[in-house]
Amino acid sequence: MSKRALITGITGQDGSYLTELLLGKDYEVHGIIRRASTFNTERIDHIYEDPQANNRRLHLHHGDLSTAEQFTNLIYNMQPDEIYHLGAQSHVRVSFDVPEFTGDVTGLGTTRILEAVRNSGITCRFYQAGSSEMFGSATPPQSELTPFHPRSPYGAAKVYGHWMTVNYREAYRMFSANGILFNHESPRRGETFVTRKITRAVARIFTGKQSKLYLGNLDARRDWGYAPEYVEGMWRILQQEAASDYVLGTGEAHTVRDFLEEAFSYLDLDWREYVELDPRYLRPAEVEYLLADASRAHRELEWEPRIKFRELVRIMVDADLEAIGITPKGVGRAILEEKFGEWHQWAGSVSKCLEAAAGSALGD
Ligand code: NAP
Ligand code: GDD
Repeated sequence: MSKRALITGITGQDGSYLTELLLGKDYEVHGIIRRASTFNTERIDHIYEDPQANNRRLHLHHGDLSTAEQFTNLIYNMQPDEIYHLGAQSHVRVSFDVPEFTGDVTGLGTTRILEAVRNSGITCRFYQAGSSEMFGSATPPQSELTPFHPRSPYGAAKVYGHWMTVNYREAYRMFSANGILFNHESPRRGETFVTRKITRAVARIFTGKQSKLYLGNLDARRDWGYAPEYVEGMWRILQQEAASDYVLGTGEAHTVRDFLEEAFSYLDLDWREYVELDPRYLRPAEVEYLLADASRAHRELEWEPRIKFRELVRIMVDADLEAIGITPKGVGRAILEEKFGEWHQWAGSVSKCLEAAAGSALGD
């Protein structure tokens, strides 16, 4: 019999890839979406089936992590085998503007789902979307053994969610596991995160639609990987015999400046001619250096990322060129074909999603 999964944050970058992965593994997938006055499902429109269709395997339910109101009933009625809790206010700089809201949704949201599982009395496996932001100023490389020192309301909220997940494991013997994921990016990355902000700007500058790109701190170092590989890691974490916590990352760190260099030079452009500092993108406290030691995941999950920094940049620039309507240079696309021969391919996953984004179609 096929398994049933519930995903919070299904409309986000990771939620959309995870849905594709699980549908490919024959799961029935349920997702929580927020009611919005405009379409907010563009990342999953290409896989959503008509609600009237028989035997559909993707189901959406309205809900908001800021209230527990319907989660116990929903989970009791659904009886999921696995819950992937990905929903969050996930933007670090924004968390300084709305610290209380971030604590509520990103922190308490985790407790609301854990409590709903406990109250419903069902047995299922729970995944918490933890973050390398929890390490904050801790000395790199960071592993499962590195003490947390968060530097933002977002990081602090994720530390709370992490320990609640551990607590439900210890107190109630729940299968609740933390993934501590370093930055992972893709053509579906939100446009205000630095990688996508850059690759989108590169495509727009290349086609004369934009002249300047305003950024904050260019010295911060991040361990950037490719999102589809990370959702596969999440799935592996929940397939282990016992619940535990795992760091996922590439083990390579680069500065924002390196990202600019790589993205602009791919199209023979010099980033220095276009990039300017805007202090509004600086953070009151910065996380300077994140670098994963993912050796435990390599050993126990047999998880090893195949897409590294340079390839990631090319995939994202190619996708933003295609999104803007011009034929991509093609190196990124070829990398996917060569290295990612399984469920995630350009034609099925990248192009389809870009088409869907152009005309969001999912009604309610
Ligand atoms: P994302 O693209 O920002 O997606 C966040 C998801 O959460 C969206 O579906 C969003 O819905 C939903 N959401 C936000 N507030 C909500 C609320 N009040 N109630 C219900 N749903 C809500 O994030 P992502 O990059 O896919 O990341 C997935 C998870 O992993 C997040 O928890 C993030 O903090 C964590 N994480 C991400 C990374 C990374 O590098 N991407 C690394 C470590 C950890 P809307 O679409 O309606 O906004
Ligand atoms: N967003 C943004 N916008 N970041 C900028 C900019 C800018 O204009 N200019 C410089 N940066 C720097 C930030 O200061 C930060 O050091 C780095 O670029 C990365 O910023 P983001 O892309 O916003 O990601 P993040 O590292 O803060 O957070 C992401 O990764 C976390 C995992 O470490 C988010 O996805 C979090 O949800 C995730 O947990």
